[in-house]
Amino acid sequence: MDENTVTKKIMLSGIQPSGDLTLGSYLGAIKNWVDRTDEFDNYYFMADMHSITVRQDPAALRRRTLEQLAQYIACGLDPEKNTLFIQSHVSAHAQLGWVLNCYTMFGELSRMTQFKDKSAKNKDNINGGLFTYPALMAADILLYQPDYVPVGEDQKQHVELTRNVAQRFNGIYGDVFKIPEPYIPKVGARIMSLSDPTSKMSKSDKDPNGSVYLMDKPEDIQRKFKRAVTDSDTERCVRYDPQAKPGVANLMTIYSAVTGRTFAEIEAEFEGKGYGAFKPAVGDAVAETLRPIREEAQRILADKAYLESVYKAGAEKASYMANKTLRKVYKKIGFVAR
Ligand code: TRP
Repeated sequence: MDENTVTKKIMLSGIQPSGDLTLGSYLGAIKNWVDRTDEFDNYYFMADMHSITVRQDPAALRRRTLEQLAQYIACGLDPEKNTLFIQSHVSAHAQLGWVLNCYTMFGELSRMTQFKDKSAKNKDNINGGLFTYPALMAADILLYQPDYVPVGEDQKQHVELTRNVAQRFNGIYGDVFKIPEPYIPKVGARIMSLSDPTSKMSKSDKDPNGSVYLMDKPEDIQRKFKRAVTDSDTERCVRYDPQAKPGVANLMTIYSAVTGRTFAEIEAEFEGKGYGAFKPAVGDAVAETLRPIREEAQRILADKAYLESVYKAGAEKASYMANKTLRKVYKKIGFVAR
């Protein structure tokens, strides 16, 4: 069969520009998106509308949104093959978000663990958007009728809710939305914090030594790996045991992801050498992996006209798809066509 006549399955995901992208964002998410480029029809966006559920500095939000786009491209997401866009550029997200708010139950939203976590952390700003955020996320997804939504463990509950809302809506109005599946990559690395290997490496971590950022310079990367928490094993043995040695297991996961070596190969490589040799080796390998990404992202960021052409084209393609779904929804629920 001619490749062009086969309709590819649709994949969609987004990242909030609420912090600088980390090594965890790259190894756990973006690298997988890059590897899936040809297999799927892809939509990836900067979830700026989600970011404002927590107070943001306007200039920083703008900078990080553009930086995130430049980084997506620098990581290898080809804008010719992936629709890359800024969420707030496609008004259908806000429009369907409102509609879906009316089909999402208070009880369901109250059960979201992310809402409970974030409202505990932001006691002085527990706003309505923070609470109804999963309805907007459902809109982000359902507008594009995707087959798969690649997300981390922490977002699975929101994808489950999306499926429930879509099923509820379809149950009333007929088949309007495709029911998406969460896509958990078979070999997705879950990268933990370097200073606390029991919690995920996060772009919103307050401790800058816990996270390696895509834009970190090699010397900063090396310093962070030299300081990385390991354990008090007196033999300082490099062995993969996530229960007993979570810090070492995390460093091995990272080293394996950037060098392609297996855990057995890594254990053999550092046999009898201890953490003093292992940690700088991981730092070097990561610095070498991130160097071309950082340099390319900086080059792209300096080319404002190019960046603008990418996000404009992305918004146009995304709007076309999204508005098709939105028109269907408006018609079904009884809004008068303009
Ligand atoms: N909520 C996601 C996060 O915080 C980001 C996001 C927003 C998203 N809309 C989405 C992810 C739609 C996948 C699909 O990481």
